[in-house]
Amino acid sequence: MEVGPGTLMGDLLRRYWAPFAPAAEMDKQPTKAVRLMGEDLVLYKDGSGNYGLVDRHCPHRRADLSYGWVEDCGLRCNYHGWKFDHTGKCIDQPFEEIAHPDAHFKDRITIKSYPVQERAGLLWAYMGPLPAPEVPVWEPFTWGNGFVQIVISEIPCNWFQCQENSIDPVHFEWLHDNWGQRLRGQTNGQKPPTHLRIAFDEFEYGFTYRRIREGQSEQDGLWTVGRVCLWPNCLFTGNHFEWRVPIDDGRTLSVGWFFDRVPEEMEPFRQERIPYWYGPIKDEQTGRWIESHVMNQDFVAWVGQGGVADRTQEHLGESDRGVILMRKRMLEEAENVRAGGEAKGTIRDPKVARFVQLPIIGRDFFLAGYSMRDVANGSPFRYPKNFIFQAGQPEEITQAYRDAMGMLPDGTPNIRERVTLA
Ligand code: FES
Ligand SMILES: [Fe+2]
Repeated sequence: MEVGPGTLMGDLLRRYWAPFAPAAEMDKQPTKAVRLMGEDLVLYKDGSGNYGLVDRHCPHRRADLSYGWVEDCGLRCNYHGWKFDHTGKCIDQPFEEIAHPDAHFKDRITIKSYPVQERAGLLWAYMGPLPAPEVPVWEPFTWGNGFVQIVISEIPCNWFQCQENSIDPVHFEWLHDNWGQRLRGQTNGQKPPTHLRIAFDEFEYGFTYRRIREGQSEQDGLWTVGRVCLWPNCLFTGNHFEWRVPIDDGRTLSVGWFFDRVPEEMEPFRQERIPYWYGPIKDEQTGRWIESHVMNQDFVAWVGQGGVADRTQEHLGESDRGVILMRKRMLEEAENVRAGGEAKGTIRDPKVARFVQLPIIGRDFFLAGYSMRDVANGSPFRYPKNFIFQAGQPEEITQAYRDAMGMLPDGTPNIRERVTLA
């Protein structure tokens, strides 16, 4: 479960690029204190647009560099003015250079630094041994005409129990369907369809989990394609990703990336910047965890398992076959990396990394789109008027979404106007 430097799992996770902040956040502020995999760091964007991710503490006398300021190149400490570039080189020591102009003391100083890349509106960090692999451009990152948003929350428990949820199809029926019904007060005797069969398969970039529920057949996409437990710490459902990024052993950053295709009538649609927001997880009125939205329900389950779930007290059954498989493969891969092997699913070829396909139910829908006219004529597709995944979406993002989707501000489809225009 441990993620610090030198731990078995920490060393495995450090072989992958981790999404840890929205790029748009750095338009508002040039520095940000970050804790990632048990390390205290500072993210900054300097005047030349370089992202740096460096030790939180200055190597001079340990001041907090998140209070430093950025210049055209690099980050300057606010205590005595030492300056560092994004590769970790010390590039200025004002008083030392006056006192001993020929000593070149700064050439002997470096600060811990990690590479940062921007993709799909997110900033990704690589904290492992160099050379770094490529940042995978997952297929949905290349899709057009979609409203994308990033949602981040801090979850007070270990990352691995969060990731176990990514390969747990049966929880959906209970945590979301059955419990959700009760939370909405809909106990009218209609039971959500129960799971009849589940299956798990490994592929290059993770696992798929497949299911057949009452009323579904072997021809259903949920059985023929399935959903993806994306290695090493993500859930991918076709149009959204949920990464479980370790802050440290006891806390996890939930990083969600959501894509909603806009209707044809609203094309072409482009976002200047992908919007982001931080989702609350606690109801401040009651002191209880928020229960109303899909991912909030997941959070309730994860934190309920304890800071680090005690696996010695579990009783695993048939529904946990995926969890057991993932635990086994994680440990094998961690040993493989420790023995000098290449980590599962890392990509070294830039041509491969530029477009990485994943199993996706309904890919054609995301590629081809749909029209409001089809929706008006009773096409089974319905785009939601509200964000169902997490509580607390800011009003301006709700409105930007409804605008993009061709809805009136109250969420009703603006079909008449659009269809007349078309
Ligand atoms: S502690 Fe940073 S310059 Fe002195
Ligand atoms: Fe869930």
